[in-house]
Amino acid sequence: MGFDMKPEKEVISRKNHCKAKNPSPNSVNSVSNKKQKKKKKTMLTSRPRMVDSTADEITPVRRLFDTCKQVFSNGGPGIVPSLEKIQQLRDILDDMKPEDVGLAPTMPYFRPNNNGAEDLSSPPITYLHLHQCEQFSIGIFCLPPSGVIPLHNHPEMTVFSKLLFGTMHIKSYDWVVDAPMRDPKTRLAKLKVDSTFTAPCNASILYPEDGGNMHRFTAQTACAVLDVLGPPYCDPYSDPEGRHCTYFLDFPFDKFSSANGVVLRDEEKEGHAWLQERDDNPEDLNVVGALYTGPNVED
Ligand SMILES: [Fe+2]
Repeated sequence: MGFDMKPEKEVISRKNHCKAKNPSPNSVNSVSNKKQKKKKKTMLTSRPRMVDSTADEITPVRRLFDTCKQVFSNGGPGIVPSLEKIQQLRDILDDMKPEDVGLAPTMPYFRPNNNGAEDLSSPPITYLHLHQCEQFSIGIFCLPPSGVIPLHNHPEMTVFSKLLFGTMHIKSYDWVVDAPMRDPKTRLAKLKVDSTFTAPCNASILYPEDGGNMHRFTAQTACAVLDVLGPPYCDPYSDPEGRHCTYFLDFPFDKFSSANGVVLRDEEKEGHAWLQERDDNPEDLNVVGALYTGPNVED
């Protein structure tokens, strides 16, 4: 299993993958011949009407919420849902669009930073909270151009990320399990993803031990990412020993290798890096919360 959001060059438009739409009465070609009209009318009225009322009533975001409840019902720290459940949730996310959660690229959250070319700090990123319970959380990160979510981890979690619109660079790593620590805060990781993605593209999935559990998002244009976390992070105040977000800096393998005794062949070095833990509130983290105003997530 891996991080399978397709790179930009591999993205295949999903517009033609739409499910067949119910035929509309208006789509019946008009005919001038009255007999033909009468015949069509008879055919339409004599058939039993087949309406999928469930599909009509449930919005995409509500369908996402209901599916998350099923997928994570027996979840917990380090528990990966079954392949069938993962596919079920992935299918829902793959079809989701910005308008399904009340977003459009013209909204203020996505305006570029106007502080001038000298300002290299990340512009504010907005987090819209949709839902959190013990089993899972749903939220959306709204990034203006050049917005960065610094390198961070997802301890014991399975995470689904769906790029709703825009172009984003993702760099992600997994730990090298048997490598010695360089020091208590610096550990060897292998590169999983270093690619640019443009919506529409499939949802990506990361797992507790693989798939790119530590990742950094860099917005190349304004973009929005819908995130589903199972289980969610813990509140550091009420549960100081629980799953907390740790931030990292990544350094090239050669920076520390001589002091550590880890030996890699030259061709392997590019695919590895040292990740060093940072403070809880890194200075380049600039996320603000805002009220979600899209369609209702639950009753
Ligand atoms: Fe993340």
